[in-house]
Amino acid sequence: MDTIKIVFVSDIHLSPGQDWSDCIWKYTPNEEIPNLIERFVSIVNDELKPDLIIELGDRIIDVDNNSDCKNTAAIFEEIDNKVKCPVFHVDGNHDVVHVGKPELARLLENPELPYVRIYNGYKCIFFDSLDPMIDGVGGAVSEKQLEWLRHEMNCDDLPKMVFSHHPLNYHEIHRNFLIPSDTVPLMKVANCNEVRKILEEGKRFLFHGSGHLHWWSFRVTPKGTYLVNPPLSAAHPERINAPGWFMEADIWPKGKIDVKIHSIVPRRVVGNFVNC
Ligand SMILES: [Fe+2]
Repeated sequence: MDTIKIVFVSDIHLSPGQDWSDCIWKYTPNEEIPNLIERFVSIVNDELKPDLIIELGDRIIDVDNNSDCKNTAAIFEEIDNKVKCPVFHVDGNHDVVHVGKPELARLLENPELPYVRIYNGYKCIFFDSLDPMIDGVGGAVSEKQLEWLRHEMNCDDLPKMVFSHHPLNYHEIHRNFLIPSDTVPLMKVANCNEVRKILEEGKRFLFHGSGHLHWWSFRVTPKGTYLVNPPLSAAHPERINAPGWFMEADIWPKGKIDVKIHSIVPRRVVGNFVNC
């Protein structure tokens, strides 16, 4: 069985034409995002050539139903329609505020969460970490989905990669000024211990991938690896020159993962993590 290359992108927060200068979004230079998306597409098509792209949620900043549908459709047009490999999506907390989950699936031509896809012998499990949403930022996984996850983690011997918008493990975040301190407790799945136990006790769990933190993280435990993808959108320390972060991951069937963190501005690899 071959290795597989996946590119992760998340927290794109495309919502042009709004004034966000007076709130948490003051570090999101929305006018730069269309160009970052265009450069991201060129990099994956011409340079990285991944087997899959996984978009890990928060495609937009929520405004209203019309704007959010239009911006979600723009993500599909500018990424899914322009890359040369399949793209799969999970929903983030901002995506679902004004648009129903079935409508998001329709706009993205994506299955409704939760769903499974088998690619090159790897099982990709996508679940909904907004089931329900908590305080507009956090989320949990319902009993029904826990049962579904338990089944999908045990019904075959395929190596398994699992994805959701919210992280499932502790990740250092409280000193990241992009995250207000009162939302730090909402930065991982509320019942993450229960979900992690299901994954780690399942057959051939390789890793879990998420977004939401607006920072990257790579946590290795004896039972599995937990990745957090950094945002495409956020700038630091001023509201210009967003670096356009994203991750490239090479995965081996026995569990080795080699992750590179990329920036677009400037164009370079800014970090490399391997779990063995
Ligand atoms: Fe989020």
